[in-house]
Amino acid sequence: MPRSTSCFTPRLLAAACLLAITATACQPKTAGDAGKSAKPIVIGLSLDTVREERWQRDRDEFVKHAKELGAEVRVQVANNDDARQNAQCENLLTQGVDVLVVAPHNSESAATIVQAAHKAGVPVVAYDRLIKNCDVDLYLSFDNVQVGRLQAGYAVKQVPKGRYQLIAGAPTDNNAHLFRQGQLEVLDPYVKRGDITIVGDQWATDWQPVEALKIMENALTRNANKIDAVVVSNDGLAGGAIQALAEQKLTGKVVVTGQDAELSACQRVLAGTQSMTVYKSIRALARRGAEVAILLARKQPVPDATGKIANGFKDIPAILIAPVAVDKANMDSTVVADGFHSAAELASGAPPK
Ligand code: BGC
Repeated sequence: MPRSTSCFTPRLLAAACLLAITATACQPKTAGDAGKSAKPIVIGLSLDTVREERWQRDRDEFVKHAKELGAEVRVQVANNDDARQNAQCENLLTQGVDVLVVAPHNSESAATIVQAAHKAGVPVVAYDRLIKNCDVDLYLSFDNVQVGRLQAGYAVKQVPKGRYQLIAGAPTDNNAHLFRQGQLEVLDPYVKRGDITIVGDQWATDWQPVEALKIMENALTRNANKIDAVVVSNDGLAGGAIQALAEQKLTGKVVVTGQDAELSACQRVLAGTQSMTVYKSIRALARRGAEVAILLARKQPVPDATGKIANGFKDIPAILIAPVAVDKANMDSTVVADGFHSAAELASGAPPK
């Protein structure tokens, strides 16, 4: 390993980062403030939605950790509405937040939020979802292309030859495109060889499970139930697809992928009605989110933002956390070991009908 990197393991960097934050989170904002009482940093957290279980955890872990670090968080939820998210962010800026952390509903139109924030001298973190075509300060997420590779990789292992339906997420969410990119990377060679036929490829507006239900019902009708695998981009949509499979008594007979390790999805994986999910440590993401927000508010560098992602405007500094594929075999060593769901919680749910 080169000398320059050997002494900066991610853990050490995170520790150094944390030290820097705790030392500064409660300091006066400017030299001019010195001597006056320290004003805590105020973070504006703008979420698109809290419908999926994971976003509730994102919010709770973020707020908790920010508080531990001496910062205050003001949370807004846009409920899948671009205009509302814009207005909420404008409002947070008017309130004088020091930094904005945004999980955008629309990866394109959220650029106006970044422009407004920068006009007010406020840095912006694109949280989990990228904001495109603007000078956003930092992108903090998971390796989302890898999420797609894990989903399709799992499916082709189970069904190396067969008929595949694809159900992607919201076209307005850049992540949905990254998941799809990773899925196609894996599937393309199989399709080219003629081993896999993609019988349908649809996107679900706003990640709505009911859309996945309809897509899957139609796909089954069109294909006289002859579908071997469904590459679904998240657990919410997987729930909808599985409901359609259940109507045809096909649950457990068709490979279905997912993502988020939602409690109900993990229970389905254990019950055999969903094949796999992808676990992403929301705790790690949210805690990191609070830490980098404080660093940016302090105009301090973020030492581990060593990745880069092109957003159409420039290469944005990025921190990408690794996702993990989960099925029955490694549920205990991943989701349970990490404290995401307890064994008792997993056992408590009767398998969803
Ligand atoms: C997130 C997923 C989530 C989906 C729907 C995506 O941007 O990465 O974890 O399931 O949005 O909220």
